[in-house]
Amino acid sequence: MIIAIDGPAASGKSTVARAVATRLGFAYLDTGAMYRAVAAEALQLGMATDDRPALTKLAKELPLAFEHEGGSALPTRVLAGGRDVTTEIRTPAVDAAVSPVSSIPGVREAMVRVQRDLAAVGDCVVEGRDIGTVVFPHAELKVYLSASPGERARRRTADMERAGHDVSAEAVLRRLERRDTADSTREASPLAVAHDAVEIDTTGLSVEQVVECIAQLARARR
Ligand code: DC
Repeated sequence: MIIAIDGPAASGKSTVARAVATRLGFAYLDTGAMYRAVAAEALQLGMATDDRPALTKLAKELPLAFEHEGGSALPTRVLAGGRDVTTEIRTPAVDAAVSPVSSIPGVREAMVRVQRDLAAVGDCVVEGRDIGTVVFPHAELKVYLSASPGERARRRTADMERAGHDVSAEAVLRRLERRDTADSTREASPLAVAHDAVEIDTTGLSVEQVVECIAQLARARR
């Protein structure tokens, strides 16, 4: 069974998707981390984020892997070409580069192919922007998570502060809104609500409430 979880930046997707996978004993695939890994590698190689042919080639050839240290059910490390990019993919530099990189059709084609292979493990929770619309249009359960911009900025600021980055909440909100606009208006697989997705506005809901809601929906559809 595939559970597709889509939504804008900082809508709570990762926290919720990981908890749902743990609750149901499913595998978990973070497709945003894959686009971030390509963007991080491009920055590392000094590539321009609008060099479509070079970035398409990089996405096709770069081996991406999720490691599960100590037998952890959830992945603990992201590797790009064997290099550990787990921390690097969450930096403001990668935040800024990932939207242009992920808007390139050739990059998306390469990622979608790998995503379908990685999730072909049986039961998997897959999170991203186009999972229910493009990657797994026949997913048994599609969820679209949203939250108010203020709430999303508050959550992302807290995440970045925990990771040791000194950021202002207003700057985070501006960057989130810029990324949402770019992700929803791009030509290739824009962020959109699948017609058969269940929409959940997580503003004011606890993680536990959202997870319980999705777990119940999943049980009903098995
Ligand atoms: O979920 P995230 O913030 O880690 O995603 C990073 C970026 O990757 C986001 O700005 C849009 C892009 N993305 C995408 O285009 N398609 C996906 N399935 C997942 C992420």
